[in-house]
Order: sequence, then C-alpha cells, then structure tokens
Amino acid sequence: MEKQELKHFEQNELRTFGRRHGKKLSMRKTWLMDNLLPKLAPKADEYGKNPMILEIGFGNGEHLRELAINNSNSIVIGAEPFANGVAALLSAITTESDNTLIPEYKNIRIFPDDVRLLLKNDGFKNVKFAQIWVLHPDPWPKAKHEKRRLLNHDFLNLLSSKLYRDGKIIIGTDHWEYYDWIVEQLKQTNLQIKSTSLDIIKTRYQIKNKAGTTEPKYLILDNI
Ligand SMILES: C[S@@+](CC[C@H](N)C(=O)[O-])C[C@H]1O[C@@H](n2cnc3c(N)ncnc32)[C@H](O)[C@@H]1O
Repeated sequence: MEKQELKHFEQNELRTFGRRHGKKLSMRKTWLMDNLLPKLAPKADEYGKNPMILEIGFGNGEHLRELAINNSNSIVIGAEPFANGVAALLSAITTESDNTLIPEYKNIRIFPDDVRLLLKNDGFKNVKFAQIWVLHPDPWPKAKHEKRRLLNHDFLNLLSSKLYRDGKIIIGTDHWEYYDWIVEQLKQTNLQIKSTSLDIIKTRYQIKNKAGTTEPKYLILDNI
C-alpha cells in the first residue's frame, strides 16, 4: 500500500483494536516474523484457483489453524494487527527444529494489520470469500468507545460486498450487548441471519470469557 493511501486510511478510519505489541518476542519468533511472515503474504492472484476463507482478528490463531486443516483446498487468510498473536501463530505452524512450515498449514496466508487495509486494497478489489469469520471482536464496552466497534453497518456492508455466491459470514461473541448491537446494525445492510446455532468454538478469548456470560452467541449471515 502506498504511503499516501495509508495516511488517508489512518486519518479516516478509527482504530478498532487495542495493542499492536505485547511482551518482547523470543529469538525464534523474531526470526519467523522477519523471514517467514513476508512469504505468507496474501496474494490476490491465488483467487480463482482456490476458494478463499478469511478470519478477521485471529488472536493467537487456534481457529485459523483448524480452518486450514479442515479446508485443505482453500486458501485461508488471517488478518491480525497484534504482533504477538501473529508470532504465536507462526510458531505453531512451523517445526521447532528448523522453522519450516508444517505441510498441513501450507494454505495459510497472514495479513499482519488492520483487515480494512486488505479489503480496501486495489489489488484485492475483486477477491471474494466463501467464508468470513469474526470470533470475539473487541467489544469496546464503554459507551464513549462504541464508535470503535469493528462490526458497524459500514463494515458489514463491506464484508457483504466481498462474499462469494452462497458465501457466509460467521460471527461469535460472548458479549451479548455487542451481539444485540450487531443485530441492529444488520438492518442497514443487505445481510440476513441464516442461523444462530453453532457448536461452541474454543478460542483463547472464548476461554477467558471476560464478559462473564454463560456462553458465546453466534450469527451466521448471508446476502439477501
Ligand atoms: C478480543 S480479541 C479475539 C481474538 C480471537 N479471535 C479469539 O477469539 O481468541 C479481538 C482481536 O481482533 C483484532 N482486531 C481488532 N480490530 C481488527 C481489525 N480492524 N483487523 C484485524 N484484526 C482486528 C485484535 O487485535 C484482537 O486480537
């Protein structure tokens, strides 16, 4: 992305995530970030040859790895701006002995930044996805932060335009107030709720259950 474009994005889009960096990375993770990560950049020219799946805010990547294994004919792109999460995923998909990619994860691509930069990138303009996953998006529970919520109607409309025929968006959150807010936002989109029933997907954040609710709620959406 051109510097000019990046500046424009930063001036016009509110940040939807918390930290970009946590504790210092180990030598192995630093090596993986410098040497392997660039090789796993999403490539628009892979589109058309394989179905595409996107996971937004993959955290440490537990669910992204499952997606890669269960959809071996698809390209699975993960977007995550938190460097320690990206490094944790890189560590989990490589062998400790020689840092090579474990073959069952060869369909993983990583965009280590705000997913909106990827989706609004000219090179990715025509790419459509069969599945788009958003598990436990940052809930921004304080009223003054509500505008930082990623799943507002503008963003949902962007995702809707990126869905392949019969494609689905799967959202999960344990923050029930955010869930109801998303359902309200849907009224200003071309998306409809196809189902709300899904077996609980265990991710790091789901296990932490910061919202203190009894279970996560899910939304499976498709275009009207
Ligand atoms: C609460 S965590 C959940 C992580 C993971 N999905 C899980 O369930 O364990 C939300 C994640 O979304 C990421 N995130 C927030 N805004 C994002 C954006 N615009 N693009 C990509 N990722 C984003 C954050 O960095 C954070 O890691």
